[in-house]
Amino acid sequence: MADDIRFDGQVAIVTGAGGGLGRQHALELARRGAKVVVNDLGGSVDGSGGSSDAAKAVVAEIEAFGGQAIAHGASVTDDAGVADLVKTTIDKWGRIDILVANAGILRDKTLTKMELADFEAVIQVHVFGTFKPIKAVWDIMKAQNYGRIVVTTSSSGMYGNFGQSNYGAAKMAVLGLMNTLKLEGAKNNVKINAISPVAATRMTEGLMPPEILAKLNPEYVTPGVVYLVSEDAPTGAILTAGAGVFALARIFETEGVYLGEGGLSAEEVRDSWEAITAEPGQQAYFNGGEQGQKFFRKLAGG
Ligand code: NAI
Repeated sequence: MADDIRFDGQVAIVTGAGGGLGRQHALELARRGAKVVVNDLGGSVDGSGGSSDAAKAVVAEIEAFGGQAIAHGASVTDDAGVADLVKTTIDKWGRIDILVANAGILRDKTLTKMELADFEAVIQVHVFGTFKPIKAVWDIMKAQNYGRIVVTTSSSGMYGNFGQSNYGAAKMAVLGLMNTLKLEGAKNNVKINAISPVAATRMTEGLMPPEILAKLNPEYVTPGVVYLVSEDAPTGAILTAGAGVFALARIFETEGVYLGEGGLSAEEVRDSWEAITAEPGQQAYFNGGEQGQKFFRKLAGG
């Protein structure tokens, strides 16, 4: 086996690390030598309330095995709180190597019953609450010529889940953020990936039967996150993880057909549907420009 993955001398921030998956990520990073900032607002699953006790308890667990950690109770949506989270980290340890953007809430409702406030709250925590910490550490990581970021997506966003239009929209948004930042960070060795977990936490306790939840220990997701924030990490990957299974999710685009000669019409799109959707030759692009190149290759008859 190759060398162990270690984080000695590195500093990690894990948001929403007072419980569930974030707690496991924080514990494992600390076990492997990272100094860890355990961020958690300590609210309920729908985002209401708050206390920093949850984060402090995880810090105590880390200190109990000789690791180094501090707690920070900022909400990831609060500009001043996020600024203080980053300032506190830099004042204490002088650098930030790793950010795991994990904090999240749920407000499940079908669209008919969903209030704008439910949509906004979920977008705030998952989208702004991912963007703001990333924005706050970005230039620090670039200046260090080193940074590893993980955003937390979901099958709900990639594939859909009944009653989660707010959550699904938010979880796809973080992938859009990642897709651009993998390009903008590349020159400075800042890599960004996504984890798509499935785990038994308070977030899923009502959603799945107990016998299924028993197979979904959050510990089974954390090795994926640890690899994605390690020195050898890929960039722009979406790693799905749960129950001990790991897989890569990708968006594929079919080769498609050129209909631009002559009778370009809705009927021609309809009548070409089989060819448009044919899978042979489909590809996953690394940036938007690659799709454009395909269009112009086909226009030129290629
Ligand atoms: P959880 O509810 O146990 O953990 C989420 C943590 O985020 C909580 O400790 C909560 O206090 C914290 N948090 C919420 N809002 C915050 C804010 N504004 N600022 C700081 N902290 C805040 O749930 P779980 O399952 O551990 O979720 C972790 C992440 O994984 C979330 O992003 C979730 O959407 C995602 N996820 C979880 C899945 C699962 O099967 N458990 C499936 C797909 C995604």
